[in-house]
Amino acid sequence: MNIDKINTETEANKFSKQTEYMEKIKRYLSDFEQDTGRKQTYFVFTTGCQMNAHDSEKIAGMLEEMGFLRSLTEEDADFVIYNTCCIRENAEVKIYGRLGRLKHFKKTNKNMKIALCGCMTQQDVVIEKLRKSYKYVDIVFGTFNLYKLPELLYTNLETNETVFDIWKEEKGIVENIPTILEYPFKASVNISYGCDNFCSYCIVPYVRGRERSRKKEDILNEIKCLAASGIKEIVLLGQNVNSYGKNLNPPVSFAQLLREINELDGIERIRFMTSHPKDLSDELILAMKECSKVCNYLHLPFQAGSNAILEKMNRKYTKEKYLELINKIRSQIPDILLSTDIMVGFPGETEDDFLDTLDVVNTVGFSTAFTFIYSKRTGTPAAVMDNQIDEKTVKDRFNRLVDAVNKKIYEIHSGFVGKTLNILVEDVSKQDENIVSGRSENNCLVHFPGNKDIIGQTVPVKITGNKTFYLIGERI
Ligand code: 5AD
Ligand code: SF4
Repeated sequence: MNIDKINTETEANKFSKQTEYMEKIKRYLSDFEQDTGRKQTYFVFTTGCQMNAHDSEKIAGMLEEMGFLRSLTEEDADFVIYNTCCIRENAEVKIYGRLGRLKHFKKTNKNMKIALCGCMTQQDVVIEKLRKSYKYVDIVFGTFNLYKLPELLYTNLETNETVFDIWKEEKGIVENIPTILEYPFKASVNISYGCDNFCSYCIVPYVRGRERSRKKEDILNEIKCLAASGIKEIVLLGQNVNSYGKNLNPPVSFAQLLREINELDGIERIRFMTSHPKDLSDELILAMKECSKVCNYLHLPFQAGSNAILEKMNRKYTKEKYLELINKIRSQIPDILLSTDIMVGFPGETEDDFLDTLDVVNTVGFSTAFTFIYSKRTGTPAAVMDNQIDEKTVKDRFNRLVDAVNKKIYEIHSGFVGKTLNILVEDVSKQDENIVSGRSENNCLVHFPGNKDIIGQTVPVKITGNKTFYLIGERI
């Protein structure tokens, strides 16, 4: 029997109620440790965007607060959580494949509990499939009730039966969820959740719900705490950050929010994503220009260059408007670097439409671009459009797109050879412990000699070479 707990929560039941369940699980875990002489471990596997990555930091935060230890390997962890993405079909295929493998691990590791959460589980078809073919999954929850993990785990431990808890919408933003940050020097901060744009190919509005903004004070307080704990760089997250605050009372613009964050002590770099071209205001461009901590880097997806396709995508701008916007941004902030998302193979895309996409790539010159093959998502308007494009044509266009994008990336990066960039050091190379990597303010990835002791420091690096997707240099 499955336990369904659909829509049983009320607005008043926020995170404080979960602390009671956390206490109960703490006691359970400490009894386990006394009996076995070891602590229980967890492993979180995340797919998808930075929003999901940040949700996984909250999952880790709750689990560690309850007493779980992070496991470096999945097969021997006591609690395995998959935080999933469904933006393209292959993201889902990957999860089903991995779940199949996990079934074998569970046979040898009898303690193992498996949870599935994130965007994938917000779809009815996925829930049906899990109920039918993946009965060994213990807990299934969605994007709106992540904070209930302690309660759901406790219910499963008590009953040993699969718990499904999927909400169709959020009932108020939940604050104060414990979080374990992936890096001690940079952190993501949610500013808004959900999306109201309904681009015709995109499943996000259906699985992440309507757009809602966090209160400005909650965001500022969180960033002050992060700064006090040594965080230097923050990444503000929202599906469409440019429309932040429209529905707050009183309304706050994203530009106003940026200006206030810029005043906070301790923070050195402010980044944000994602911006929608239709909502990028002059007020925001001015704020980016005037706020010294806001990085000269902008991720501005254009998706497609053809006006006919943009209209069918419901993007609400034209190729000309997008290019005008880029010109305006560059005239105000000349040294800004731009990145984007581009899709090929949208239904009805002709060779001429695709050439418009290549034209935008060549005209703008992006320093980073995320390129995608259109993936049909059931329930979206594009899924039932005529003229879905055949695989061979799509692959050919995709390869040509990637070639054009990479050529431009190489050109842009060549302009940095011989210059000095301030690099916030993030990681040591996996292949060589004497090489570190980090990012410049305008988000260039740079590899250079150094060791783990300088992780988290910002150091000047002279750029000596261009490897297309990253630069190499020497610390000066
Ligand atoms: N197929 C392919 N790519 C998609 N994206 C969103 N939906 C789809 C889809 N159905 C891409 C868009 C978006 C990025 C996050 O993912 O380019 O900006
Ligand atoms: Fe999807 Fe469009 Fe919303 Fe981005 S703006 S999340 S592409 S619907």
